[in-house]
Amino acid sequence: MLVVGVGAGRRGKFTESLVRRVLEGTGLDTEFISLSGKLVRPCEACNGCVETNRCVLRDDFDAVWERVAAADGLVFGAPTYWDRMNTKGAAFWERLCFTGRHRERFPLRGKPAAMVAVDGSAGTGEYVLGDLGRYFADARLDVVGDVAGGGEFACFTCGFGEDCDVGGFLSLYPPGTSIEPDRIPSLENQCPHLGDGEARTRGEALRRSALDLGDALARRIIHRGEGA
Ligand SMILES: Cc1cc2nc3c(=O)[nH]c(=O)nc-3n(C[C@H](O)[C@H](O)[C@H](O)COP(=O)(O)O)c2cc1C
Repeated sequence: MLVVGVGAGRRGKFTESLVRRVLEGTGLDTEFISLSGKLVRPCEACNGCVETNRCVLRDDFDAVWERVAAADGLVFGAPTYWDRMNTKGAAFWERLCFTGRHRERFPLRGKPAAMVAVDGSAGTGEYVLGDLGRYFADARLDVVGDVAGGGEFACFTCGFGEDCDVGGFLSLYPPGTSIEPDRIPSLENQCPHLGDGEARTRGEALRRSALDLGDALARRIIHRGEGA
């Protein structure tokens, strides 16, 4: 049984780590696909998919779609950009949902799936969960659950973060604070601006939730396989 994880965040950064952790929790065969560096254009509503249910735009969407379609389960993760799912993630779902609603309806119907949502501050991923929830429902996926965490603003590594008054670092820390490793959010260090102890406790809870979600996803996949 294969579970495919797709991440719409930066390669090797927080969304990828959290998706990979959910995959690990499944205990099944897994494959991770990063959309980073891939070209996924938005839906042009050209109706080119009406006869075949396949998108006619020639970019990287189709190859990823094929892996998702072939999988027994899906984990999809995306970061928050400007209080919504980032455009790369949304473009992927626009095309997946539109190509899937013509003659051969909803090819992913009933496939067990989990949502991973990331933001740069509170770690609730609320906007991404709202956006992904609508796409998952439209695709008729079987939503097993979700997990959300707080990632690292690009401002932590841009080189100007300590002094930039419109940047992410100074939205979390007072002026004069230096960017040290223990102030960088990660799976182990969640919301470090809340203090060391709290960050470690939140990190541990997040890692546990991700593994538990993977486990629940695997159970749903196996259950579905037995019923088929
Ligand atoms: C253009 C842009 C806009 C962002 N907007 C928000 C936002 O509105 N709210 C928020 O909490 N984080 C925001 N972030 C921070 C990202 O959600 C955060 O850096 C996240 O960790 C990115 O995922 P990644 O680490 O997997 O790349 C934004 C980041 C970028 C690059």
